[in-house]
Amino acid sequence: MAKILAINGSPRPGGNTAAMLETVLGVCRSTGHSAEVYQAGGRPVLGCVSCGGCRQNIGKCSREDWLNELYPKMAAADAIIFGSPTYFSDLTPEIKAIIDRTGFINMSDGRRFSRKIGAAVVPVRRAGAIHVIDSINHFFFINDMVVPGSTYWNMSLARDLGDYEKDEEGARTMVRLGENINWLLEKLK
Ligand SMILES: Cc1cc2nc3c(=O)[nH]c(=O)nc-3n(C[C@H](O)[C@H](O)[C@H](O)COP(=O)(O)O)c2cc1C
Repeated sequence: MAKILAINGSPRPGGNTAAMLETVLGVCRSTGHSAEVYQAGGRPVLGCVSCGGCRQNIGKCSREDWLNELYPKMAAADAIIFGSPTYFSDLTPEIKAIIDRTGFINMSDGRRFSRKIGAAVVPVRRAGAIHVIDSINHFFFINDMVVPGSTYWNMSLARDLGDYEKDEEGARTMVRLGENINWLLEKLK
């Protein structure tokens, strides 16, 4: 069975991003896949300093924080889901740090993300989610990954804790995303 890794970039572990990810992962688990959530949001993380250390020390970032624990999980997963709330029409800084640093580590480590599935999951109060989804998809596309869609963009109109549960279309979009990840995993076997 396949391994799915969801990275929660929201600093609110029980927030809307977490709930959306749980919907997607629930659908994936229902067909026997294993699914893990890695909590990244709210944990101090450093940005890329363009030191080139990942070209010398393959598979590792020279900066010391939890990112070196996360990268092997990403490299081992069949599908990687990035969950990020919309912050001023953009990603959270934790997700941006993961994108920059694991993007470079992966490129000098034999492009281990190639042909993995990638999906974005984004809550938003009102505007900016499409930009966040685009930013996450840019990471998947340059890393040779395969991106499934859903019946709407992978977002939910949600501000306060529990708002996602009231957004029926958002929940339906997440269920279909989970079904499409399962479908694609079968096709890519
Ligand atoms: C710093 C910050 C910036 C935000 N910027 C936006 C924004 O640009 N557009 C928007 O519609 N909502 C914005 N929001 C609202 C969040 O995207 C929304 O509350 C989301 O559901 C939070 O997800 P979470 O519960 O997983 O933390 C912002 C919230 C915060 C804390």
